[in-house]
Amino acid sequence: MKVLVTGGCGFIGSNYLHYVVNKYPEDEFVCIDALTYAGNYHNLAPVLDKPNFRFVKLDITDREGVDRLFATEKFDWVINFAAESHVDNSIKNPGIFVKTNVMGTQVLMDASLKHDVKRYHQVSTDEVYGDLPLDRPDLLFTEETPFHTSSPYSASKGGADLLVLAYMRTFKLPATISHCSNNYGPYQFPEKLIPNTIEKALREEKVPVYGKGENVRDWIHVYDHNVGVDMIMHEGKIGETYNLGGNAERNNLTIVKTILAALGKSEDLIEFVTDRPGHDLRYAIDSSKAERELGWSRKYDFDEVIKETIDWYVNHKDWIKDIKSGEYRNAYEG
Ligand code: NAD
Ligand code: TYD
Repeated sequence: MKVLVTGGCGFIGSNYLHYVVNKYPEDEFVCIDALTYAGNYHNLAPVLDKPNFRFVKLDITDREGVDRLFATEKFDWVINFAAESHVDNSIKNPGIFVKTNVMGTQVLMDASLKHDVKRYHQVSTDEVYGDLPLDRPDLLFTEETPFHTSSPYSASKGGADLLVLAYMRTFKLPATISHCSNNYGPYQFPEKLIPNTIEKALREEKVPVYGKGENVRDWIHVYDHNVGVDMIMHEGKIGETYNLGGNAERNNLTIVKTILAALGKSEDLIEFVTDRPGHDLRYAIDSSKAERELGWSRKYDFDEVIKETIDWYVNHKDWIKDIKSGEYRNAYEG
């Protein structure tokens, strides 16, 4: 079987490849990535020498390039991780989010239909469901929760998901969709809350907390997310959507304080800064469908493994240094 994984130089896609390339030595994996600022070729190091892995630098919005690749490779499965993924960037520059997240998804689906791909999977986010109130812990996002997006990022991901649903119904694209909550783990670009806090704290710089730090996210280890995606590929039913959550709701201030304590740094580093416009209050996922129908369960408990994730960044200072200096952009010479 031949599998296309897009966005494999990013955080979640690279962790996915580390998992599946080793787990399925009989399958061939091709990764395409445009190597945007968020794509780091070094993230592929653990799989680069594997005989069942290959990297091709390609933008998912490049219709002709994508069509040519599909015609040559004849993929059985396509898993789309590629996206512009940072909410703050989407507020500054929404256009690239529409282009990559919506139009790129369309390009991949058109190629999948034309070249008889047996399964297309769209990796999406819980942010398409909007947010939940802080004072109603009983409310969780289910697969039936209507889309109610707040940021250009979530709107572009929701737009892409709606397009996937339309391609399934109108053109019979054999597809599935997953909505996951906030991921943590190794290789996350240091623009996101957890690696950004670790990186700044290690350098004794002020750590920005938006607003009062009350906003709640449901944190899942990237490994558990990727096991869920793999189970959807193998056990999931075409046409279905699955939610994957961490069952670990924490507000941002708690996350930041946890990191500072683990690093032995003072809480004086915390700096409350102007809130993000349209800032979603709370995300929380009901994963019972994936648990019931796929037998998915989480291996990692947030409080037990957050220290391991913090240690990963402490032990990979060169990885962060390369990103901060811009050196990582020279990693791919192909
Ligand atoms: P990321 O920003 O770390 O990685 C994105 C990758 O996509 C990068 O390697 C980048 O170079 C590549 N890319 C961007 N535009 C491209 C294009 N036009 N063509 C080809 N490649 C392109 O993102 P991530 O955190 O790994 O997220 C991966 C997916 O998971 C995204 O679809 C995101 O919406 C979704 N998701 C993320 C989270 C999270 O907590 N990070 C949670 C739920 C869902
Ligand atoms: P982020 O990691 O950007 O993920 P998302 O916005 O997709 O949930 O942010 C997580 C939360 O942390 C979000 O409520 C915004 C907040 N935040 C901060 O308070 N400070 C920061 O420096 C960052 C990057 C985020």
